[in-house]
Amino acid sequence: MALTSRPRGTNDIIPGEIELWHELEGKIRQVCHAYGYHELRTPIFEHTELFQRGIGDTTDIVEKEMYTFVDRGERSITLRPEGTAPLVRAYIENNLGSGALPVKLYYYGPMFRYERPQAGRYRQFTQFGFEALGSSDPLLDVEAIALPIDLYKSCGLSGFQVELNSIGCAECRSVYRKELTAHFEPHADNLCRSCQGRLHRNPLRLLDCKVESCQVIAKDAPKITEYLCPDCADHFSQVQKYLDTLGISYVLNPRLVRGLDYYTRTVFEVTSSELGSQNAIGAGGRYDGLVQELGGKETPAVGFAVGVDRLLLALKNQGKLQLSPSGPALYLVHFGGETKHKAAELAQGLRGRGLWIELDYADRSIKAQMKAANRLNSQYVLIIGEDELAKNQAVLRNMGDGQEESVALDELEQLITIVGACGK
Ligand code: HAM
Repeated sequence: MALTSRPRGTNDIIPGEIELWHELEGKIRQVCHAYGYHELRTPIFEHTELFQRGIGDTTDIVEKEMYTFVDRGERSITLRPEGTAPLVRAYIENNLGSGALPVKLYYYGPMFRYERPQAGRYRQFTQFGFEALGSSDPLLDVEAIALPIDLYKSCGLSGFQVELNSIGCAECRSVYRKELTAHFEPHADNLCRSCQGRLHRNPLRLLDCKVESCQVIAKDAPKITEYLCPDCADHFSQVQKYLDTLGISYVLNPRLVRGLDYYTRTVFEVTSSELGSQNAIGAGGRYDGLVQELGGKETPAVGFAVGVDRLLLALKNQGKLQLSPSGPALYLVHFGGETKHKAAELAQGLRGRGLWIELDYADRSIKAQMKAANRLNSQYVLIIGEDELAKNQAVLRNMGDGQEESVALDELEQLITIVGACGK
């Protein structure tokens, strides 16, 4: 294996791209602030059992996508494939539900799934997710849709669609499961191998199978929304009313079931027309049983996770999130010897004030240094000549309009006022 190639399904984020990530991370913090969510950071790895119990044994993630290993202490450890189960674990372990409810938390960081890599689907990817714990108010379900929409809009993204469904509670789902199994059973021979395996263990998953022959059979399957109990039906209708009040458009998709087992009631997914088959730029839903399942008190909860890599891909495809070119505030041109020492001293003082300062490290010609300053897109150049240095002077050139002025080298503040004004 070549030492110079990264593992399949991973990415390097190089300078020129990382600035877009920083900009997006700033917008994420802003939108979380507006909705009152606070950041929580959990470990990159957890005990494997957390995901088996939390996400569900029969899900694709747990069955075939986890990066699991036994550590030197003989414990089974898994790199987190998602952020909801770890956040709930941290919520219980740190007793975060002891104060006012709901508790609103968000996370941002790398997730790991052993999937077949393709555009928009990676083995290490970044999620921004947020969760509201301790309330079953349908308005929170709607805010879990409104928040990412605000984020997408603040990035300038258009052409996205919200798909919405309710998969009810354990009670209504058990009736529905029976109906669904009865629908698929006569067609068992024509189902794909995975669906045959899931027919009795987890029939809901058959609804979102991507294999064409399974989709044909799923087309006439009974709809979960027709089996909702009165409470779940009322909750779902309130969600839709709030969405209408907030002017958020959505499409009802009775086949939307999601690939994680913890969901109850509302589920949603946002897709982008800018992406190919991996078009979900975020998804989420309500999970009223998970906190209890993981050992906490009965606590309703709802949340959402944005696929940050995919969002950036969609924005790139739309030509959005372009940065204004940035460059150093000042490039110090010197003639070597004493003038280089003066340049080093000035750079030290100005960098200490937070300004981006560059200088030549190869004793190149003045012409070459000016070219380098230009290439870096420097706002100003300070030319420290030997004669000028003797008089404690240097020539400051504004690279934007070509204007030059003489500045006193012992008056750092004057230089900071001029150069710092460009905000670099
Ligand atoms: P999820 O649908 O598995 O849900 O993932 C959420 C988003 O993460 C997807 O819509 C997609 O944008 C991104 N994503 C997932 N897998 C990959 C991948 N292999 N490569 C690139 N991006 C990917 C969850 O993870 C739930 N925890 C969401 C949630 C939060 N539900 C309630 N709260």
